[in-house]
Amino acid sequence: MNVVTNFKWIEAANYDEMSKIAATIFIDHLKKNSETVLGLATGGTPEGFYKELVAAYKAGEVSFAQAKSFNLDEYVGIDPANESSYHYYMDHHLFNHVDMKRDNINLPAGIQSNLEKAAAEYEAMIKAAGNIDIQLLGIGGNGHIGFNEPGTPFDVGTHIIELAQSTREANKVYFDSIEDVPTHAITMGIKTILSSKKIVLLIAGASKQEAFDRLRSRIVTEDFPASALHNHPDVTVIYTDVK
Ligand code: PGA
Repeated sequence: MNVVTNFKWIEAANYDEMSKIAATIFIDHLKKNSETVLGLATGGTPEGFYKELVAAYKAGEVSFAQAKSFNLDEYVGIDPANESSYHYYMDHHLFNHVDMKRDNINLPAGIQSNLEKAAAEYEAMIKAAGNIDIQLLGIGGNGHIGFNEPGTPFDVGTHIIELAQSTREANKVYFDSIEDVPTHAITMGIKTILSSKKIVLLIAGASKQEAFDRLRSRIVTEDFPASALHNHPDVTVIYTDVK
């Protein structure tokens, strides 16, 4: 298939290669600027990416001591200590294993009494940090980025969102049952994501084929949130097991 957008498309031979290519981009960035503001994602797709980052840190190739991070999203109503929370995921896959300073780690809080206020504060913190230098993204089968579900306006910052039923179904493997999957999340908005200086999007596996095809079509529509990325000047898509 021909290149259809300004994106840089990189086809990886397999999942491990995709993870390595993405990790190398982030590591190179950190080597050039130790104070990089990282935008981080959760989910099944980036697990290999985090393994690579931890391995590089343990091998002495990279340090996170001066870096800052902001995660894309968190479930509403899930305690950070809960194994299904994205706070827990990040500790487990990255933060417990590298030299990031706890004060430099930021995730949206899903258990605040005033979530709208927490969302506005999170957005302000990202701006105060000078915006994200390099943002990692996965993609939902329905095209969501972060938890911006289809229909989300492109011009909103961090906000509370109702999860699509298909998202709750896709994520129920991380919970005891579908009833336990939260109905809402707090997420960076598409506006927040587009304010990042560089974006790296990972797409892996047959369940993402339709999303991959829609992204390739280059049609920009709020019905397909990832299509907003066509409005960004520096997006690298690393994909595997989709055609
Ligand atoms: P996944 O989720 O990596 O677990 O497939 C990606 C997403 O929903 O953004």
